[in-house]
Amino acid sequence: MVQPIVVAHDLTKIYGDGDTATEALSGVTFTIDPGEFVVLLGPSGSGKTTLLNQIGALEPATSGSLTVNGVEIAGMSDEDRTEFRRSTVGFVFQFYNLVPTLTAHENVALIAEITGDDAEARSDCKLEEVGLTDRAGHFPGQMSGGQQQRVAVARGIVKDPPLLLCDEPTGALDLETGRTILDLLKSTTQGEDRTVFLVTHNSTIAEMADRVIRLRDGRIVGDDVNLAPTPAAELRW
Ligand SMILES: Nc1ncnc2c1ncn2[C@@H]1O[C@H](COP(=O)(O)OP(=O)(O)O)[C@@H](O)[C@H]1O
Ligand SMILES: [Mg+2]
Repeated sequence: MVQPIVVAHDLTKIYGDGDTATEALSGVTFTIDPGEFVVLLGPSGSGKTTLLNQIGALEPATSGSLTVNGVEIAGMSDEDRTEFRRSTVGFVFQFYNLVPTLTAHENVALIAEITGDDAEARSDCKLEEVGLTDRAGHFPGQMSGGQQQRVAVARGIVKDPPLLLCDEPTGALDLETGRTILDLLKSTTQGEDRTVFLVTHNSTIAEMADRVIRLRDGRIVGDDVNLAPTPAAELRW
């Protein structure tokens, strides 16, 4: 039997306390197998980013259990969570979050350095994989949004993490550019045991997923396998 990449059981996250407490996640339970392209779909404020940040070990849980790549992370110390992130997850964000004073190559190499040798060569290799070799020396401000997001994808996979977490990665892009980024993200699951967990409020994007988990008011309200995902190039929104 394959070991699941993510197992959440009765996971709850409450921000603040007393009168200002917000229950962002309420008793969330699900399992994700490796190699799936999973979309987490829900309206604004439903808890998508909170759940992604939980899986990425950016914040401690309030209660419940969360196992990622075989490691229980819900109650981990800050230091252990940092170490866990380093080895296990890559991130892609809506607004790219590149370092503006570093070139594309340097942005990717910076993360490659954290995880071993040959950072320069691995950065070049990933930039080639996302089709940006000719922009390696450019700064983020000299690139289009789509190109910056390609750099961010290269950075997200340069550690070869088993899990790539993407928070509204096409939210700032036009339709055509968004499709090419989705296609690229999907291709990163192929031929490798990488799982992509993509958060969006856009139900059209869910059509390309292998699996769609629906979230509303911090609760899972749907969980469906998609046996015939639509290719990214055919999505219309
Ligand atoms: N750091 C935080 N402090 C307090 N409340 C938060 C924080 N982050 C998120 N929330 C609240 O948790 C709920 C879910 O937010 P979020 O996960 O960002 O939703 P989504 O990504 O689906 O738009 C919202 O009510 C939001 O206001
Ligand atoms: Mg969000």
